[in-house]
Amino acid sequence: MLSHRVFQAVAHGARQSGSARAALLAGKAQCASSTLPMQGRRSISVYGYTQAKALVYSKYGEPKDVLSLHKHSISAPHGSQVNLRLLTAPMNPADVNQIQGVYPSKPPFLQTLGTAEPSAVGGNEGAFEVISTGGNVKNLSKGDWVIMKKTGQGTWRTHAQLDESQLIRIENKEGLTPLQIGTVSVNPVTAYRMMRDFCQWDWMRAGEEWMIQNGANSGVGRAAIQFGREWGIKTLNIVRQRKTPEETEALKQELKELGANVVVTEEEMLNGGFRDMVKEATRGGREPIRLALNCVGGKNATALAKTLAPDSHMVTYGAMSKQPVALPSGLLIFKNLAFDGFWVSKWGDKNPELKENTIKDVLQMTRTGKFKDIPVDDVKWNWKSEGEELAESVQGTLGGYRSGKGVFTFTGGDE
Ligand SMILES: NC(=O)c1ccc[n+]([C@@H]2O[C@H](COP(=O)([O-])OP(=O)(O)OC[C@H]3O[C@@H](n4cnc5c(N)ncnc54)[C@H](OP(=O)(O)O)[C@@H]3O)[C@@H](O)[C@H]2O)c1
Repeated sequence: MLSHRVFQAVAHGARQSGSARAALLAGKAQCASSTLPMQGRRSISVYGYTQAKALVYSKYGEPKDVLSLHKHSISAPHGSQVNLRLLTAPMNPADVNQIQGVYPSKPPFLQTLGTAEPSAVGGNEGAFEVISTGGNVKNLSKGDWVIMKKTGQGTWRTHAQLDESQLIRIENKEGLTPLQIGTVSVNPVTAYRMMRDFCQWDWMRAGEEWMIQNGANSGVGRAAIQFGREWGIKTLNIVRQRKTPEETEALKQELKELGANVVVTEEEMLNGGFRDMVKEATRGGREPIRLALNCVGGKNATALAKTLAPDSHMVTYGAMSKQPVALPSGLLIFKNLAFDGFWVSKWGDKNPELKENTIKDVLQMTRTGKFKDIPVDDVKWNWKSEGEELAESVQGTLGGYRSGKGVFTFTGGDE
């Protein structure tokens, strides 16, 4: 186990000062350029133009009300431009918040795709295949798989034209699926960095230190469980109770198979007996809980904080319950706990190289079977898909109690 805890080069210099707080700066999105509005549904491409459809919005609101499918075409790439075809793009909670207009980064509404109104393309991550490259493109060629360097560039589109500088090439796609690549840059990177950058783990005590998290069934939560298992950090995981005890037990079991040490429902945590349960799991506190990851807020977050050992950190990265984080003053005064926030978009913009290295590390773990896929609800997107059905899939993202994360898989080929 100890060897797992020896950080690779990727971790060196990674530790941010305690000031890695969520900075709410607006991000910038860039839509594909050199596009030509389309008339018919599937006209034949001429003069090197590629047909494309994008799920766009020109005002904020519920996805089902404001998303529409826009047809356009993309010219042959020039200079350092690259033409891409979508493989897989997930629907993350932040994507929906962005469309609702309640997310701090707001892609600008532009008319570069030839939409009637200035619009933005939905989605923030995804895997694409290179279908053609401009004459000055140096490091990409047809058939390569890429992801976008930054969030906010719009990934819910069958095809896109971007500059080479906006893309990360997947160096070795052998042994990887589009789903694994298309979902690596947000959730796994968030879990990885929060676990590495906010706690000085005592690597001589492998398997004797704990992390606690809520939202453990989320994409981030599942990633954190697996990193914990690999790095010798025990995890205490909070999930929401299911409709029946059998379903709850099945979820607990699923997370344990991923590597979770303890899985407790939110109800069990809040309804007495939790303190004793924690005491028992941590051998009376001799195995300290040194990090808490909070994506829920409210009473759930308060209960998480109360389990922490003195001088530990709680990192808030989501607010799924929409309730504020309330903290007893004693935790700050007598336990000297630190409370931080983390936002992967902002962090990635500041640390592009480290982000790429983190992605490489996660993909290497994936290749070697140490990092498992999230359960998904696969939404096939082809040339016949209607805007309404795609928008409905996006609408379900915040529904909760899902059997898997919604992902678009484009199966249409090039036209
Ligand atoms: N700050 C960052 O950089 C960053 C990066 C990635 C994600 N996030 C945030 O992290 C959170 C999880 O994202 P994800 O993509 O991993 O999510 P996901 O896979 O789509 O899953 C959503 C999770 O939220 C839980 N949930 C939903 N409503 C809840 C509520 N009212 N109370 C408690 N839990 C609730 C769900 O629990 P059930 O399984 O019980 O439905 C599920 O586990 C989101 O808030 C997202 O915005 C932040």
